[in-house]
Amino acid sequence: MSKIRLGIIGCGGMSRAHAGDFHHLSDHMEITATCDIVPERARNVAELTGAKLAVTDYKELLDHVDAVLVVLPHDLHFEVGMTCLTAGKHVLMEKPICNTEEQCIELIRKSEEVGKVLMTAYPVRFWPIVMKLKELIDSKAYGECFQMSIWTEQFTRYFDGHWALSAERLGGGQFFSHGCHYVDLLLWFMGRPVRGTHLGTNFGTPWMEKEGTSNVTIEFENGALGYHFGTWGARGTRLGWSLHAHCTEGMLEINLADKKLYAHTHIKEEKANLDTESRTKVIYEADASGKFTHHELEHFLDCIRHGKHPISDGPTSLQGLRVIWRLYEAERNNTVADLRGLGLEDDWKSVRA
Ligand SMILES: NC(=O)c1ccc[n+]([C@@H]2O[C@H](COP(=O)([O-])OP(=O)(O)OC[C@H]3O[C@@H](n4cnc5c(N)ncnc54)[C@H](O)[C@@H]3O)[C@@H](O)[C@H]2O)c1
Repeated sequence: MSKIRLGIIGCGGMSRAHAGDFHHLSDHMEITATCDIVPERARNVAELTGAKLAVTDYKELLDHVDAVLVVLPHDLHFEVGMTCLTAGKHVLMEKPICNTEEQCIELIRKSEEVGKVLMTAYPVRFWPIVMKLKELIDSKAYGECFQMSIWTEQFTRYFDGHWALSAERLGGGQFFSHGCHYVDLLLWFMGRPVRGTHLGTNFGTPWMEKEGTSNVTIEFENGALGYHFGTWGARGTRLGWSLHAHCTEGMLEINLADKKLYAHTHIKEEKANLDTESRTKVIYEADASGKFTHHELEHFLDCIRHGKHPISDGPTSLQGLRVIWRLYEAERNNTVADLRGLGLEDDWKSVRA
């Protein structure tokens, strides 16, 4: 099959991260066009990726591509996604898919109507180290997982006037924009959510209109708990990007700073000091660090080629956003959010049959 022609719409920070990973897939695809309202940015990413065409109006690249990667401010995802799908293009949409439920549903329906792939770019799901963890948890290699905790501690400060400072353009705060990765991940690992809480603050990140720091706790149907602490205000960190999965026969840990997945086992249950008596084994070691966006892109190309549904498809992404919207609502009302009956199974049965 000939190479899939990909266009990049939005050539800011994240599109440059993608550009650094495209060479892994050069046998399967080529970047034929780039677009940014700032012409210099479109030209820069075209130079980085070998694209022949750099434009400032995304509609001008549609005749030159089979698929698009949309890397735009969140409030533009819907309009651009709809136009591209309507033009018969497959869409890999940067997260979060859209800012409202209605927009998500309309976009998903459009992708079904035109028979084109719509996938959300959630790279973490596709990292080999995370896939390995998923395999170990699903196979219960270390027993049942009863608590998964994820820490993402970053310093993310946007300059004045940047679209991400506006809650309306971002669709919320740090929780919506960044936490969506981890709500998505927790649902993927732990199953159906039952109830949960979110507490956010912009103390420490006064540049954010909404929260820059979030604490999220979710209870799942089997009684297990999930937790995410995310901040854009970290002035220092030890945990950086860490994930701990406490299982009934051991604790699995990913520490991205040292690129390893560990299993901690064999505690002496009668002793309080867990560390000195536990055994630690490296289960998987990644050979490099970064965002590794080529894994998600490879899945997207595979879905296009074989007419498959992406694992981070529209309905799945919407499920995660529904959790976030319910948690935000409960936070406003000072209540615990009821997360049952998110509608995924009922709304999208036909799509997934
Ligand atoms: N997966 C991740 O780890 C990750 C990390 C950062 C950002 N993102 C996502 O990537 C997307 C973009 O974020 P970013 O940080 O690159 O933002 P950015 O502001 O750096 O880049 C956005 C670009 O879009 C351009 N743009 C604005 N309006 C446009 C239009 N109408 N037509 C064409 N170009 C237009 C801007 O000029 C800018 O260059 C968002 O969805 C964000 O959530 C994902």
